[in-house]
Amino acid sequence: MTIVKKVKGSVTVLLGLQYGDEGKGKITDSMASKYDIVGKFNGGDNAGHTVEENGKKHILHLIPSGILHRQIKNVIGNGVTINPVSLMKELDDLFHVSRGAPLPSNLFVSDRATLLTWIHPLLDRAEAMRCGKDDIGSTGRGIGPSYRDDRGRQGLRVGDIKNNLPDFIFSAKIKKVEEYQMADLKKYEKFGYVIDEFAVKRLKEQWFKDLEKMRELNICDTSHLLKLELEKGSKILAEGAQSVMLDIHFGDYPNVTSSDTITAGVAIGLGVPISSIVSVGGVIKAYSTKVGGGKFLAKMENEEEEEAFRKDGVEFGASTGRPRACGYLDLFQIKHAIYLSDTSKVYMNKADICPASVKTIKVITGYLDKNGKLMESYPLNLNDVVGFVKVEFNAWGNKKFDKHKIQTFPIELLNYLNFIDSELSTVGARLTYVGTGPDRNDFVKYRVF
Ligand code: GDP
Ligand code: IMO
Ligand code: MG
Repeated sequence: MTIVKKVKGSVTVLLGLQYGDEGKGKITDSMASKYDIVGKFNGGDNAGHTVEENGKKHILHLIPSGILHRQIKNVIGNGVTINPVSLMKELDDLFHVSRGAPLPSNLFVSDRATLLTWIHPLLDRAEAMRCGKDDIGSTGRGIGPSYRDDRGRQGLRVGDIKNNLPDFIFSAKIKKVEEYQMADLKKYEKFGYVIDEFAVKRLKEQWFKDLEKMRELNICDTSHLLKLELEKGSKILAEGAQSVMLDIHFGDYPNVTSSDTITAGVAIGLGVPISSIVSVGGVIKAYSTKVGGGKFLAKMENEEEEEAFRKDGVEFGASTGRPRACGYLDLFQIKHAIYLSDTSKVYMNKADICPASVKTIKVITGYLDKNGKLMESYPLNLNDVVGFVKVEFNAWGNKKFDKHKIQTFPIELLNYLNFIDSELSTVGARLTYVGTGPDRNDFVKYRVF
């Protein structure tokens, strides 16, 4: 019996393998022209993806990083949570909509995506205030409260606004949601949180204003749209937000985001069959960074070294501007992420970042437990890690090389790349691309598949 493949098209996944900010936006943008569609499957405006084209920089949050390619469709999938105010601001920044320019006709928004309300960010901030120094360092965009309401079946969805908006504004549904969320917010008063009723009213008005504008976008059943495209033979690129180590189930809980960031999240967040996923690319950077709360195992011990990486790598959050902590490349963590995300191709950015003051580059290859034994699996409790196995490489510092020609790379950098590639091969992945600058064309192909 011959089994007929259900769809002719395919889905390629691109996601982060560390703690976010690996340069996913840059790679999505540089790969996008080979695809028919770019789709976002998770997260919200907590994401900040930088795309640079000839010195012009765009920071994308909710809009997929394929948007600069007018010929391809961009889909915000059902797994995303959307704040209408952020979405309309982002569209305005990109396309000058408030100055009369049209909304992009190549952007499609799922009618099943969650609507993040004006109260959700307040809940995030109230919770941060309650936790004080133990706060997880959320971006404050309301992502956790929004996904919680969604999972609790108390959420609003984009499809709710498709019909008559005035009816929706005064509907029992909105009233119920508002009452529920405001009651939630009021609970924080006993911890000292003060609700500014006037500010809440203003936020609500702005939210509805932007909701009205949002109705002019292509809102549809994007899972069905992708089904028709897959049947036609289209190629879809699924772009991840956040990264494996921020996954709600597999990240360093509770210092995680609230969405499914791993490959399994693609089927859930775009509504595509698992069998349509043909390839998974994982993005890393040449070292590690992390922003927000929680223990960062790989953090550099030497503060001056860390500061040098932060400065040269411009390691400040694309969404919040917060300084990112810098750490060594952690291959034990990356291999764990490769397994969970089923990655076969690894894209490594920031090979050009190697501060002149740094003489050796360290890489973590294993974690040691309290008995000095190598850990076999990624630990539930990071405090159980009491040491590391590290490998050291001579740094390439500020040695000059042509960022488009691998033949010109310093031997120290080549040694570093070859080591990473051979380590990746032990878990079924290979290094395929090396980023050498922020522009979409700043990379070399390390290996062609
Ligand atoms: P994302 O969230 O994964 O899309 O990454 P971000 O945009 O938050 O952060 C990545 C940062 O690194 C951005 O400022 C990019 O412009 C920059 N970047 C990406 N690739 C490279 C690279 O190869 N070299 C350098 N120097 N910068 C890069
Ligand atoms: P991109 O897509 C880096 C971190 C926050 C915080 C935790 C929870 O640009 O890689 P949340 O706002 O989701 O409640 O925050 O997750 N975080 C990110 N860190 N890059 C991101 O996105 C992030 N999105 C969330 O700092 O520790
Ligand atoms: Mg980012």
